[in-house]
Amino acid sequence: MLITEKLFPWNLLQQAIEALLMCGIFGCILEEKNAAPIIHAALKRLEYRGYDSVGEATLHEGKLHVKKDQGKIDDVHRLRNLDDLPGSIGIGHTRWATHGAPLQVNSHPHTDCNEQIAVVHNGIIENFDELRTDLENHGHTFKSKTDTEVVPHLIEEILRNNPSLGLTGAVAEAVKKLQGSYAIAVISSEEPDKIVCVRNESPLVIGVNEKDVFFSSDIPAFLPLTNKVLIVEDGEIVTISLGKAEIRKIADSRIVSREPKAVDWSPEMAVKQGYPHFMIKEIHEQPDCLRNTLRVQEHYADLMSTFLDRARDVYMVACGTSYHACLAASYMFSKLAFLPTYPIIASEFVEQCGKSVNIDSTILAVSQSGETADTLASVSAARERAATILGLTNTIGSTLTRVSRVYIGQQSGPEIGVAATKTFTSQLSVMAQLALRLAKKRGKVSQDEMDYLAEKIKKLPDIVQEIILKQEEKTKQMARKYKDAKAFFFLGRGINTATAYEGRLKLMEIAYIPAIAFPAGESKHGPISLVEPGFPVVFVCAKDGTHKTLIGNIMEMKARGASIIAIVEEGDEEIKKLADDYIEVPKDIPEVLSPVPFVVPLQMLAYYMAVERGLNPDRPRNLAKSVTVK
Ligand code: F6R
Repeated sequence: MLITEKLFPWNLLQQAIEALLMCGIFGCILEEKNAAPIIHAALKRLEYRGYDSVGEATLHEGKLHVKKDQGKIDDVHRLRNLDDLPGSIGIGHTRWATHGAPLQVNSHPHTDCNEQIAVVHNGIIENFDELRTDLENHGHTFKSKTDTEVVPHLIEEILRNNPSLGLTGAVAEAVKKLQGSYAIAVISSEEPDKIVCVRNESPLVIGVNEKDVFFSSDIPAFLPLTNKVLIVEDGEIVTISLGKAEIRKIADSRIVSREPKAVDWSPEMAVKQGYPHFMIKEIHEQPDCLRNTLRVQEHYADLMSTFLDRARDVYMVACGTSYHACLAASYMFSKLAFLPTYPIIASEFVEQCGKSVNIDSTILAVSQSGETADTLASVSAARERAATILGLTNTIGSTLTRVSRVYIGQQSGPEIGVAATKTFTSQLSVMAQLALRLAKKRGKVSQDEMDYLAEKIKKLPDIVQEIILKQEEKTKQMARKYKDAKAFFFLGRGINTATAYEGRLKLMEIAYIPAIAFPAGESKHGPISLVEPGFPVVFVCAKDGTHKTLIGNIMEMKARGASIIAIVEEGDEEIKKLADDYIEVPKDIPEVLSPVPFVVPLQMLAYYMAVERGLNPDRPRNLAKSVTVK
C-alpha cells in the first residue's frame, strides 16, 4: 500500500479496512453537477459490500427525492433510472440485508413520517426493537422491518421536541440512544445545504476535492473523484457542507482539527483494499464477523432453541464447509444441551434419512448462500413430510430464508472469495450460542458455566485477532516449507474432527493438494498405510479430554516417519516437543468453542500454500460461489 504522507493515521485506516463489509454508503455535496449519477457510479464501486437492494435520496429546491428498490444496481437502474434524481446533494446505499428481507420497502434510504429526513446506515442497531416501540407509542408510523428506520424517526422526534438543536445536534442526540454498530448519513429538506454523518464501529471516510465533499464506507468508492481523505473515528460526528467537513466529538461537541491526507492506491489495490486476494481479506475480517454474531436477534435465537427443544429428532443438513460447521455443532448440542442431533451431508439426506423424517422432526439447514441445491432439496423433501425447517444463513432473502419456519442471519457480509472462511467461524459462533441457549432452557448447565461460556464466546473475536496477528508470518513460512508435498493428512479428535475436515477441504480446494482427514482414532484402521517418511500430517490438538489419546496418535505417525504439524494451545509443551512444526493459539479455550480459533491457522496455511504454488486462491478451478440475489 502506498500512502504519500508519512503521518497518515495507519491505525484508523486499518480499522476502516478491516471493519466488516455489510452494506455500502456514499454521498456527496457538489458545487455544480447533479449528485445522482455520481452516487450511482460510487455505489457500483461499493457493490462488493452488498448487492441485494440499492437506493438514493437527493435534495432539490427544499424537497427530498428518493428512489430505491430491491435487486442489483444495474437492474434497479434499468427499471428506475437512478441518475435522474435532481439536486447536487445526496446520499446512497447498497444493501446486504440483516433485518428485513431484500424488498423495496426495506431498502435504504429510510425516511421519517413527514418524508423530510432521509437516512442511510451500515451496521446493526441492537436495541431497535425497544426504540421502535417507544417511537410508535409517540405516534410514529413505520414502513419497513429494518433496524435503520428507527433513526429518521428518532431524529424527527428529537427535532419536534427541541427544534433549536438543528440537524447536527439532533443526530448527535439520536445516536446517544443507539446501541450497536453504525455509520450513518442523514439529510433533511429543512437544512438542505448539509449532510450529517456519524460513526461507531462501522467504517466512514470523507473525501475532499476543492469544493466537492464526499463520504463513503471506503476510500475506493471516491478514488476516481479525489484522493484526499479524512478518516472518521468512532464517536465523531461530521457536518458536511460545500467545501467543508466539520468534525466534532459527540460526547462534548469539541471540534476536531484533522487535515486531509493524500492516498496513492492503484485501482487493483483499491478493490481489495490492499489485500492481494479476497480470501485473505476475508480471513482478516473474521474478528469483526464474530463480533457481529454476538448481535444475533434474541427472539429468533430463542424461538429456534424452543423448536430444537421440542423436536423428536434434529437433522442438521448442509454441504461442504457448512456441513463441517454442523458436525462441530452436533458436539456442542450434545455436550452443552444433551441434545442428540444428526449432521447429514445434504446430498445424502433423502437416501439416508428421508423415510425417518416426519411431523416431529426438525431440520436445521445451514447454508451461507441459502441457495445450495442439495441443501434446498433436503429441505424440500423434509417439508413434504411435514418437518419443521430452521435455517442459518448469511443471505437474507435467499430461498432458505423463505422456506424456513425460523431463520437466523449470521451477518457476516458478502463472502467474495470462493473458499468459505469468515462464514464458517461465524456459523460456529451462532451455533454455540444456540446450544448454550438450549442448555439453559433445559437446565443442563450451571449458572457459573453459562456465564463462563458466554464470556468466552464474547472473547472469540479478540482471540482470532491475536492468532492472525501473531501467526500469519509463521504460517507463511510453513507453507513455503511444505509447498511441494504430494499429499496431506489432517487428524483431529472430538469436536476438532470437524476442524480437521475443514482444514483438509480448504487445502484441497484452493491449493489442489490431495488431502484426507479422519477422526484421529480411525487413522490406524487403514489411512495410516499411506504414511511414509516426510509425509505431512496436521494434528488439531485442543487441550480437552482427547489430548492424551491424540498424543498416542501423534506417536503412531511419528514412528512411521511422518512430519508432524501441530496446531496447539500456547504452553502445550508435550505436543510441541513431538511436532516438527507447530502453530500456537491462545490457551484456555473451552472445548466447544475450540474449532473457531483452531481453524484459523488452517485457513491461512491453505491460503499461503496456494500462493506459494502460484495459484489464485480466489479462483479455484471447477468451483464457483453460489451467490443469489432475488
Ligand atoms: C468451501 C465452500 C463450499 C461451500 C458449500 C456450501 O470452501 O465454500 O464447500 O461450503 O458449497 O455452500 P453454502 O454454505 O452456501 O450452502
